[in-house]
Parts: sequence; C-alpha cells; structure tokens
Amino acid sequence: MNTHPSPFHDIATALTNEGWCVVADFLSSARTQALADECRAMRAAHQLTPARVGALRTATPLRGDSTHWFQADALSAPQQVFTDRIDALRMVLNRELMLGLVECESHYAVYPPGAGYSRHLDRLRDSDARVVSAVFYLNEAWQTADGGALRLYLADGSSRDVFPHAGTLLLFLSAQFEHEVLPATRERMSIACWMRQRTPGSMF
Ligand code: OGA
Ligand code: MN
Repeated sequence: MNTHPSPFHDIATALTNEGWCVVADFLSSARTQALADECRAMRAAHQLTPARVGALRTATPLRGDSTHWFQADALSAPQQVFTDRIDALRMVLNRELMLGLVECESHYAVYPPGAGYSRHLDRLRDSDARVVSAVFYLNEAWQTADGGALRLYLADGSSRDVFPHAGTLLLFLSAQFEHEVLPATRERMSIACWMRQRTPGSMF
C-alpha cells in the first residue's frame, strides 16, 4: 500500500525497466529560466572554463563545451532550487531502487554553435562513483532544426535523440549508456549532474 505516492515514482520505475527516461517540466519554466539567465550571465562574464577529459585533464577536440561546477557550500538561489529537486529525486531512487546514492555533482555546460561531445560513457576510467547521469536542459524555444540532440545509444544497437528543450531532464544509468552531443546551430545550455555512490577512498 502506498498512501503517499511520490511524484518521482514513475521515474524510478522507468529507470528500473529501461535504464533511462526523459522527464518534461522537471522544474517550472520560471525556475528553469532563472538557471538559464544565470548560466548565460556566467558565460558572458567569462566564468566558464573549457571542459577537459580524463585523468590528465587535457584539452580535447572530443568535447567543445565550457563548464562551471556548482560549489555545494556556495549555491546561488537558482542552483539551490535545482539541487533540492534533484536531491529529492535521489532520495526516491535510493528508497525504491536501493542504489545508495550519497551525493550529486553538477555543472553548467555551454556548447557554442558547432560544438559537440563525441560518443562516450560517463563512468570515469578510474572510478565507478557515478551511477545515474542526469542532464537538465535550459534552452527556450528549441527547434529540431537547431540540432544539438543528445544521442543515447541503446543496448539493441538503436539510438534515441533527446532535444535540449528548457525544462527537460534526461536520466540514464552512467555505466550502461554511451551517448554523444550533436552539434547545434545555436548556443546550447545544460546542467550535467551525476548521482554518486560511496566508493573506497572517496570522502563518504
Ligand atoms: C556530459 C554530457 C550531455 C548534454 O557532460 O557528460 O554527456 O546533453 N552532456 O549536455
Ligand atoms: Mn556524458
């Protein structure tokens, strides 16, 4: 008997059955807009840094985005709203799937026109801490012709394209789904977030 059905119950079910899911309107449009405004302002103020790949943190042609990591002890109001909601989802996934997710790490990412991120897995080679990948999109009035889909590769060899519409949250199991970001004709903003499990040698 479930007397308090969680709004996130369907997400937990989809992750169990499919390993991935797309959620529309994860935040209200006003809250999504506040994140988009902040991300755009940080980009204009040169507060994003070109992303790096791998343990050597080398600059790479594999990805063309610039990022800003959220600081847990210094979240802006819009970042706090996002973090609270993703943490609420993390708690439901812990309860329903017994995943043992202890924390989230999040960054803004801005892809300039023409930039992408080639096919990859979110598990870092030296760590299995990342269990669930979540990508939240901030782009108002995105059109299919703008490109910029996240292409998710499924186990049966097919793929699904998820467009980066404001308010859309894509979730998938980090260890299982390779994916890539296709180039867009306009600037593309997202928050990439990873729900992490406790690992030997981690802080938790
Ligand atoms: C990543 C990633 C996807 C996106 O940062 O690892 O795959 O759509 N981002 O921004
Ligand atoms: Mn990724």
